[in-house]
Amino acid sequence: MSTPSTLTQVVVFGASGDLTARKLLPALAGNLRAGALERPLQVIGVARRPKADAAWRDELDPWMEPALRPAWERLRPHVHYRAADSLEAGDVVQLGLELDALARDAGHDVRRVGRLFYLALKPDLFAATVRHLSTAGLLDCAPGDPAAWRRVVVEKPFGHDLPSALALNAALREHLREDQILHIDHYLGKETVQNILAFRFQNAIFEPLWSRVHVESVEITVAESIGVPSGRAGYYDTSGALRDMVQNHLLQVLSLVAMEPPSSMSGGDVRDEKVQVLRSLAPFTPEQVARDVVRARYTAGGNIERGYADEAGVAADSSTETYVAIRASIRNWRWNGVPFFLRSGKGLAKRYTEVVLRFRAPPVDLLGGAVDGELCALRPNDLRLLIQPEEGIRLGFLVKQPGPGAIMRPATLGFDYGALTGGADTAPAYQRLLLDAIEGNPTLFIRDDEVEAAWRFVDSIRAGWAAPDAPPLATYAAGSMGPAEADALFRGCEGIWGDGE
Ligand SMILES: NC(=O)c1ccc[n+]([C@@H]2O[C@H](COP(=O)([O-])OP(=O)(O)OC[C@H]3O[C@@H](n4cnc5c(N)ncnc54)[C@H](OP(=O)(O)O)[C@@H]3O)[C@@H](O)[C@H]2O)c1
Repeated sequence: MSTPSTLTQVVVFGASGDLTARKLLPALAGNLRAGALERPLQVIGVARRPKADAAWRDELDPWMEPALRPAWERLRPHVHYRAADSLEAGDVVQLGLELDALARDAGHDVRRVGRLFYLALKPDLFAATVRHLSTAGLLDCAPGDPAAWRRVVVEKPFGHDLPSALALNAALREHLREDQILHIDHYLGKETVQNILAFRFQNAIFEPLWSRVHVESVEITVAESIGVPSGRAGYYDTSGALRDMVQNHLLQVLSLVAMEPPSSMSGGDVRDEKVQVLRSLAPFTPEQVARDVVRARYTAGGNIERGYADEAGVAADSSTETYVAIRASIRNWRWNGVPFFLRSGKGLAKRYTEVVLRFRAPPVDLLGGAVDGELCALRPNDLRLLIQPEEGIRLGFLVKQPGPGAIMRPATLGFDYGALTGGADTAPAYQRLLLDAIEGNPTLFIRDDEVEAAWRFVDSIRAGWAAPDAPPLATYAAGSMGPAEADALFRGCEGIWGDGE
């Protein structure tokens, strides 16, 4: 933990990038506004193009929404820009001298400056940038030093498969201790995602139900209504829904939903339990991929005029999916036999993220609510964790319609976060994560072994897609909820995908 009296320097590599302007600097201003960053702070943006401090500040101005303006005005004088190529050893040494000078000019002892290096760069620059920072002595710090700490935040994607992730992790670990590396996944910064653990482990009534004994299936949907943004298709085409969304966001949410109670909320204990879940995810054989995984891409439809294949930057022979649906299994005592239905796609009818736990049907139908004697049609109980844009929790059950007979009606118990925030949205994910990175709390960052376990699972799917008799890529019209083939992942009495309502 850093002590508030020492200076904190947040050094953002990739200063002129989209992420920095849209998310990172507003998140820092948001922390100031919330009173969470009451400490001496300097922000130093780094990119190759020369630029004056004032020019960078002017570029950032339009990204500050009105509510952030007063905090931004306080932060602005402490925001600096230094041109450097992170791949040039000499530039990085010079940057170190300039960081010292900035601290000294502000009246601080350079031996008591904490530094957060945020790599908002293309991932293929991470390893070399860290190597140069290390050679320049900019990563040296004693474990647990509360003043002169050094930490590095890396953005996703953390590799593009298991071998590349292993190589990246090894390259980072050559120069950094585990406690200095923070893999960021903004999903973990969302209040609604953090609340999964609070909801599960600070209440006594839900946890006894939270297993194969009572849960029939779990669904995690991350649906996006926008297509692949113009100009990003070239990047997206090398990634796809499985690698861009499932490997990180969906599997992170899954690990929080499925993990065992940790022995404490420390970063080590929470991540030990998360990684156990990821390791228990059963990898697929190619035959299982053909049966249990559906990949698809959108054609024109709804508000989206061009199908994915027609976007500039998409290779003519591309087989990149914009949608993936998976029937996954977790082979452990708590979850064996419970399907986890995961899906994510672009160009869908609705933007929403939610987790649904569907509970088993009652063993007998005393009041006659079943359809055609099918008890499984009587599945009244589900628990929905609404992650975004709606933020809340819903518990579904049946009640008897008042009056003669026994007509059953669905009913819901609900909670909305708006009740706690005066109707305002919860704080942006990057706000919380940047604060935790500065304070040295790694709980909401992904550890190396989690990254690797997630790739092991994802790579087994990709191997199935590369098999000679893999099913062809399906299509769906943009503006729909995905391909019909995905419905077939639910079998027998298992129901169907939720509709986010
Ligand atoms: N944008 C998002 O919403 C988002 C979301 C999740 C993750 N990410 C990840 O965040 C990272 C950054 O994404 P982005 O969209 O912000 O990228 P971007 O818009 O392409 O920006 C890249 C930045 O890096 C600078 N840069 C490039 N090479 C450099 C070097 N050798 N030394 C110093 N600076 C260099 C560029 O400025 P100069 O040309 O002046 O050097 C530019 O400021 C990527 O890893 C991306 O995958 C982005």
